[in-house]
Amino acid sequence: MDKELVIVLDFGGQYNQLIARRVRECSVYCEVHPYTLSLEEIKEMNPKGIIFTGGPDSVYSEKSPRCTKELLELDIPILGICYGAQVIAYLSGGKVETAPVSEYGKTEVETDNTSVLFRNVSKKTVTWMSHTDYIPEPPAGFRICASTSVCPVAAMECVERKLYAVQFHPEVMHTKEGKKMLSNFVYDICGCNGDWKMSSFVDETVKSIREKVGNGKVLCALSGGVDSSVAAVLLSKAVGRQLTCVFVDHGLLRKNEGDEVEAVFGPEGPYDLNFIRVNCQERFYAKLKGITEPEKKRKIIGEEFIRVFEEEAKKIGVVDYLVQGTIYPDVIESGLGNSAVIKSHHNVGGLPDCVDFKEIIEPLRMLFKDEVRKAGLELGIPEHLVFRQPFPGPGLGIRIIGEVTSGKCYIVQEADAIYRDEIAKAGLDKNLGQYFAALTNMQSVGVMGDDRTYDYAIALRAVNTSDFMTAEFAQIPWEVLGKIASRIVNEVKGVNRVLYDCTGKPPATIEFE
Ligand code: XMP
Repeated sequence: MDKELVIVLDFGGQYNQLIARRVRECSVYCEVHPYTLSLEEIKEMNPKGIIFTGGPDSVYSEKSPRCTKELLELDIPILGICYGAQVIAYLSGGKVETAPVSEYGKTEVETDNTSVLFRNVSKKTVTWMSHTDYIPEPPAGFRICASTSVCPVAAMECVERKLYAVQFHPEVMHTKEGKKMLSNFVYDICGCNGDWKMSSFVDETVKSIREKVGNGKVLCALSGGVDSSVAAVLLSKAVGRQLTCVFVDHGLLRKNEGDEVEAVFGPEGPYDLNFIRVNCQERFYAKLKGITEPEKKRKIIGEEFIRVFEEEAKKIGVVDYLVQGTIYPDVIESGLGNSAVIKSHHNVGGLPDCVDFKEIIEPLRMLFKDEVRKAGLELGIPEHLVFRQPFPGPGLGIRIIGEVTSGKCYIVQEADAIYRDEIAKAGLDKNLGQYFAALTNMQSVGVMGDDRTYDYAIALRAVNTSDFMTAEFAQIPWEVLGKIASRIVNEVKGVNRVLYDCTGKPPATIEFE
C-alpha cells in the first residue's frame, strides 16, 4: 500500500502506542519503531514526518537512548515529545537540566499562535506534563512557542529545519487541544493529505490477500471474538470457499455464544466460507476434572484447544496458509522491547507448530483495536460481534474459581446472561469497559421459602479501563444491582447470594483467576 506515513520513534515512553493511535485518528497512517532504526531504513520508508516519544531517562546520562544528529538534518519534519523534545535540544547543542520545579499533571501553558503547531489552539490551554528534566533555554536557531510559569520552554521550534518540540504530552486526553496540535503537525507541517481510511484498507487488503493466496487453501481458528471474526471475513471476501474456519466450542463460552457464532459464520450466515463447529464440551470438562489451580486450568484449556484444532486441520489435509488475528498492540508489545512489557499470558499464539502450512497471514497486524472494529463495520459484521466485550481465551474456565464442572458452567452462564440483560436494559452497556459474572467457590447459608439453602455466591464484576492494564471498578447504581441480584437468586438454581466486586486493578486483576 502506497500511503502517507508518519513514524513514531520509541524512546521507551509509556504512550508510544497512543501517539500512533492519535495520528491515525487524523486519518494519517502511523507506525511505531524503535529509536535504533537506521537512517537508511528511515529514508527507505520515506515518512512525511517523525515523532520522538517520551522516555524515562535523562538525555545527558551516558546510556540513555538517543538517535543520531544526522536524523535531524534529513529535512523530514520532526516533533519531539517530552524526552523526545529534550533529545532534539541536546542534539542541537542546547542545554537540558534537572528542572528546579518538576511538573506533573494538568498544567496551563501559554502558547504563541503564530506557531503553526498551535494554529487555532487557545492562547492559554491545559496540557499534561510529566517531567523532572527541562530545557532551560532554546538552542541556537530555535524560538520558544509555549511556556508555563516554571517551564520557560514548554514548546520550541526551528521552522527552517522543520524541528518542533513540546515538553508536555499532546497525545493524552488531559491535553485538551492535543489532537489539534498533532493534526497541525501532520497536516500543516508535514503536508499530509490524510489518506488512511478503513474503506481503502479493506479494499486493498482483500486485493492483496487474493493475489497472495492464488488457488491456495486457508485455515482460520475462529473464536467469535472481534479480531478473528474480522480476519475471517476479510479472508472470506478475498478467497471465499478456499477458506475453512474452525470454531472450537469448548463449553466455556457464554450463554448461547456458540449458536450466535454459528448463526453468523455457519451455512445459514451471509459469508462464503467453510465453517466447522467442533462441539467438544465434555472433552474439556473431562480434562478439567479435579483441577483447581488457575495456571494449570489455563494450560489445560490452551493445550486441549490446540489438540482439537490440530485434529480438525488434519482432516482438511494440507493447507497453504494459516490466518491469525494478531493486532498492532501485540506486535508492538512483543517486538520493540523499549517500554516495559506488561502482558505476557494474554497473547495466545501457539497454533502454528501443530499444523502443516506454508505461511501465516495476519491481515490485522497493523491495526489498533478501534480500527479493527471500524474494519468490521465496513465489512458488514453484526454490531454485537464488532463491539463484543473482551473475552479471555480460557473463557469461563477462569471465571469459575476452583474446579470447573458442566454444572458450574451452567450457573455462571445463566447468571452472566441475566447480568448482561439488565445492564443493557438500564442503558449502561456502552458505558462499561468490561463486565461479567463469576462463580466464587464459596457456599454459604441462605433461606429460600421455608428451607435452609447452602448454595454458591455469584460475584459481579464491572470495570472501566482504557487499556485493560489498569482499571477502576464501575459504580453501577444500587437499584440496578439490586434487580440483578434478585433475578439471579430467583432464576438460577444453586445460587443464594450475589456479591459486587469493588476492587480496582491493581491490586486485583480484572478476571478472577
Ligand atoms: P486481567 O485479569 O489480567 O485481564 O486483569 C486483563 C484483560 O485481559 C483479558 N484476559 C485474557 N485474555 N487470555 C486472553 O485471551 C487470557 O488468559 C486472559 N486473561 C485475562 C481479560 O478478560 C481482560 O480483558
